[in-house]
Amino acid sequence: MSAPDLTLYPGGVRIDPEGMSIGGCGLAEVADRFGTPALVVDEGALRERARTYRRAFADLHPDSGVLFATKAFPSASVLAVLAEEGLGLDVASGNELAVAIAAGVDPGRAVLHGNAKTDEEIAFAMSQGIGHIVIDNLDDVGRIRRLAGGVQPVLLRVAVGVEADTHEAMATGGAASKFGVGIDVAGEVIELIRKEPTMRLDGLHAHIGSQIFSLAQFRQEVARLAELGSFPVYDLGGGLAARYTSEDGEAEIGEYAKALVGAAHEFLGEEVRLLVEPGRSMVAPTAVSLYTVVTVKRGRLVHVGVDGGMGDNLEVSLYGQRFQPWVLDRDRPAERCDLVGHHCESGDVLATNVDLATPEVGDRVVIPVTGAYTYTMSNNYNAAFRPPVIFCRDGEAREVVRRETMDDLLARELTIARPGASGSRSAAGGRR
Ligand SMILES: Cc1ncc(COP(=O)(O)O)c(C=O)c1O
Repeated sequence: MSAPDLTLYPGGVRIDPEGMSIGGCGLAEVADRFGTPALVVDEGALRERARTYRRAFADLHPDSGVLFATKAFPSASVLAVLAEEGLGLDVASGNELAVAIAAGVDPGRAVLHGNAKTDEEIAFAMSQGIGHIVIDNLDDVGRIRRLAGGVQPVLLRVAVGVEADTHEAMATGGAASKFGVGIDVAGEVIELIRKEPTMRLDGLHAHIGSQIFSLAQFRQEVARLAELGSFPVYDLGGGLAARYTSEDGEAEIGEYAKALVGAAHEFLGEEVRLLVEPGRSMVAPTAVSLYTVVTVKRGRLVHVGVDGGMGDNLEVSLYGQRFQPWVLDRDRPAERCDLVGHHCESGDVLATNVDLATPEVGDRVVIPVTGAYTYTMSNNYNAAFRPPVIFCRDGEAREVVRRETMDDLLARELTIARPGASGSRSAAGGRR
């Protein structure tokens, strides 16, 4: 069995005689101490990634801002680290904004998105002094008009008609997208917003999708926005791909910045403020998931069942994402396997048709590039506990999100007796 492809792992990965470590913390020890499944973040790599992003854009275009797309990893600890590194945020709900505020992030450095924002979300965002609200539809205009106490800075999201080359569930910039106003009607909506005394239209926003390798498509996005006239601010969204397997192409932040800034200078001019909203490409490579092998079934296929799955990583069942697992610290002959989860769905897989080191019950399995959209979409299917998040840095492993407990799971059930609670609880007498 060959060694793992370390280029897929966070910068702080090492392999020495004791085994694989991240941020100076041995992964086997982390698994023993915190249990599995667990999401392990290389804090140094996370910080470095944020700096790389910021520098890449600032060097080419000083009037730029990098806003982390909170949805990709909405843990307060992650948001706090990224804010410390000078990033702003994009939030896609009032609750994401509330998490950001709890993390100490300045709401003035955040933009609020959403294709169906409620009165409550818009009012909350404005009460907190949100930097920009991204208008997605005419109902947003009506809501801001009704709820604004002053003049709210806004951007207009435009469906630019670029069909991104990605999984269809991740494409958001096509003409039929549920997000934004069509480019054919955007001119009228711009005129309408400009007449609103409670709004200041600073510019345009577009986001064409996620897991996009083609830099030409980002260039197309910028060119389409330029058709709508000149604005002081352009928020170009996120979307840069992450490299999940050795077969995936490169998706370099520097090249992405060059492509985006180059297109902006060419089509929008050099005097504009440029914002970008990376999510996946910011956090995906900074974390790994740890599992324990529960069963190995050698039949027509070799099914290696672990103690996690679609409850902690929906990327495979939702988008068909490929991952490249490795049996932690084991050097045995390779065996072709399907790595499957413990949930009651045949679609609950983590990686199919992969070579693993003849897995045995009790082995740990590590999957790299799991920092994006795993924590955020983790769920309680089959009453699974959502896993902890462990930050590793300078040899110290710090649990920043604990594993769920049965108490957490039962906390919203108002009519049952809860373990450890005295007497039975009713809806009236239960904790509220
Ligand atoms: C408006 C907006 N901005 C940014 C992002 C982040 O995209 P990615 O994680 O692909 O960088 C998304 C993702 O869905 C989004 O909807």
